[in-house]
Amino acid sequence: MKGVVFNLLEEAVLREFGADTWDELLDEANLRGAYTSLGNYSDDEIVALVTTAAAKLNLTNGEVLRWFGERAMPILKEKYPTLFQNHASARNFILSVNSIIHPEVRKLYSGASCPFFHFREADNGSVMMGYESSRKMCDLAHGFVKGASKLFCEEVEIDHKTCMNHGADKCLMEITWH
Ligand code: HEM
Repeated sequence: MKGVVFNLLEEAVLREFGADTWDELLDEANLRGAYTSLGNYSDDEIVALVTTAAAKLNLTNGEVLRWFGERAMPILKEKYPTLFQNHASARNFILSVNSIIHPEVRKLYSGASCPFFHFREADNGSVMMGYESSRKMCDLAHGFVKGASKLFCEEVEIDHKTCMNHGADKCLMEITWH
């Protein structure tokens, strides 16, 4: 996982809980920290941080990833305003993840292995989002979608129809707008 993801997690924790909490998380997860945005770090380190945070807050790992994804979006908007500017709606932004957002990320962070999503727009206005990744971080995607919707002042509900963390071979998330 690219260091930028760890930087984002650190920033999200600092903004909501403060520097001491980040230091405690690193200590308890037995990690040194000092992540550089372009560096590559083992996925085990992000899992260790998420698991430690989950134990501290009495949450599941999935709930922590959703929290992280949601809080990360406004930080990403501050860092990469151009990626958000050309979209009139959250739907438009989310549907551009394969064609614009993650290709830009790969240019900025060489070697980034971003997931590919399958999208299907339904007649009732909802979007079915398919996700397949050995990282099984569908909850991070869930949080990103939720956070992106808030940035566009939209309210969405996300229903995990199938989930790799529950034995399915891929995740299917139905995004419904209110
Ligand atoms: C709704 C929009 C987005 C969704 C659903 C999404 C989803 C994800 C997920 C689930 C991952 C974890 C990797 C995996 O599952 O294999 C990921 C990785 C990543 N995403 Fe996105 N993302 C979105 C937007 C963005 C934006 C706006 C940025 C930055 C400008 C970004 C940058 C990254 C980076 C740097 C990684 C790490 C890749 C690596 O470490 O190899 N994403 N994304």
